[in-house]
Amino acid sequence: MKATLPKTLASCVAIITIASAIATATATAATVIVPAPGASLNLTRTNAAVSLSLSNSGDQVWIISSSTNLVNWTEAGSWKVYNGTYHGSFTNPPAMPNVFYRAFYDPARQNIASTTANALLLPGTLYNYSALTLPASFSQPPILAQDNMPATNTTTDTGATLGRVLFYDKRLSTNQTISCASCHQQAHGFSDPRQFSVGYDGSLGTRNAMGLSNARWYQRKHFFWDERAATLEDQVLLPIQNPVEMGMTLDALTNRLALEPFYTNLFAATFGTPDVTAEGISLALAQFVRSIVSTRSKYDIGVSNNFANFTAQENLGRQIFNGTVGNATCAACHGTDNFTPGPALNNNGLEFPYVDKGVGAITGLTTDNGKFKVPSLRNIELTAPYMHDGRFTNLDQVVEFYNSGVVFNANLSPPLRAPGGNSALRLNLTTDQKAALVAFLKTLTDTNLVADVKFSDPFNYGN
Ligand code: HEC
Ligand code: HEC
Repeated sequence: MKATLPKTLASCVAIITIASAIATATATAATVIVPAPGASLNLTRTNAAVSLSLSNSGDQVWIISSSTNLVNWTEAGSWKVYNGTYHGSFTNPPAMPNVFYRAFYDPARQNIASTTANALLLPGTLYNYSALTLPASFSQPPILAQDNMPATNTTTDTGATLGRVLFYDKRLSTNQTISCASCHQQAHGFSDPRQFSVGYDGSLGTRNAMGLSNARWYQRKHFFWDERAATLEDQVLLPIQNPVEMGMTLDALTNRLALEPFYTNLFAATFGTPDVTAEGISLALAQFVRSIVSTRSKYDIGVSNNFANFTAQENLGRQIFNGTVGNATCAACHGTDNFTPGPALNNNGLEFPYVDKGVGAITGLTTDNGKFKVPSLRNIELTAPYMHDGRFTNLDQVVEFYNSGVVFNANLSPPLRAPGGNSALRLNLTTDQKAALVAFLKTLTDTNLVADVKFSDPFNYGN
């Protein structure tokens, strides 16, 4: 049985034919290829070329053929979809007015393997993830004590490369539609511009995806807003298995990945054996996340030249942030050159009663209610919306919240209490001072990081 879905654009038609045949004869369960529902072929045409874009979340091989009469078809190429989509084009298409293209799934022609060479666009010499040049302050206390890289999983170039591939691979979700990067987007400082992320089946989560810049440094070491993951190695396996996010099991994932030669190669290069294991996935993903290090912002240049590169407004904002002008206490909780807190767990008075108990829901302690992890403020300009529930859409709203909106509650952290401790601190900043504070926060933006190819999607999507 074949389903045909004609698509008309100008005078051209693209037809996608989805065969329902399944290669079951000699296949084991792990190798059954089910043509994915929802596959589609889109076409755009100029006089000189026809561009086709094939979407298919089943990583299948499709035969592309063309016809001028819908009767006689000429094969134009066969495309393997490596990670959800593949683009191609054909120059000098048959004369106008009509040319038709179709993508045909043939179970007997699925023999294009996903090798490292054809599935991925990796550099000949691997990118450097392991020997980073870090600012001097990173190798001294207190930042030294914030480092959560364990001796058992130090970052290597091969491991982080494998982690990068995993991070962008839609195979990690059960229906192969989303990857880690769907919710942690490089252009947004590896956060999600949506208030709540959308999982593999369209369901919404309940918290905002935080940015991942400098997640390697956090003194309390734990991960997630409510600190429920003790280590990054633990954390990275949780979204894969989360029923709302990626909906996968680790067994199904290791079986699926082991079918791909590029994975057995990358595992062999990293761990010395081609076996695809959940532990290897965890170690490699953690290495990649830890390698996302921002050190090239305007702020970093400022550290090295006593902020001579800052505008007067940015310097005023810096003084407000540090509390040398006015009574703001930002640096008490967003301290060091990583802009993360020390050992304390904090409640910043977002709301009372607590809609989301945060750490309190994990520990069961009322004294932890409304307390949340404070991620690094690096790249904060890019990671909107803000707070665990994404309630603020821009930094002006965040600053106004700290200026006038902190809600007093029993767990409110001391730096946000007014003298005497029985009410919330009010900053009484002027309009210019608020704008200066926002301008300072924007000096933490690292455009090099968000454009750096070594953190980008490595898959081959054609041309
Ligand atoms: C469907 C969206 C979604 C997907 C897919 C997703 N994440 Fe997340 N991620 C989130 C959200 C939302 C949070 C915050 C959740 C919370 O704290 O309860 C988060 C938090 C994190 C954190 C915690 C950061 C910190 O500072 O504590 C890390 C690390 C992370 N994700 C990495 C990953 C990796 C690696 C993958 C792929 C295996 C992934 N995420 C897939 C949405 C997603
Ligand atoms: C007592 C500690 C504390 C102080 C002081 C403090 N913050 Fe925060 N900040 C937090 C906590 C905790 C969060 C996360 C709260 C949440 O999401 O529920 C946070 C979140 C933020 C965020 C959003 C982070 C994100 O990824 O969404 C920004 C921006 C921010 N703070 C800026 C500031 C500024 C600017 C100041 C000074 C005016 C300040 N903070 C003072 C504890 C503090």
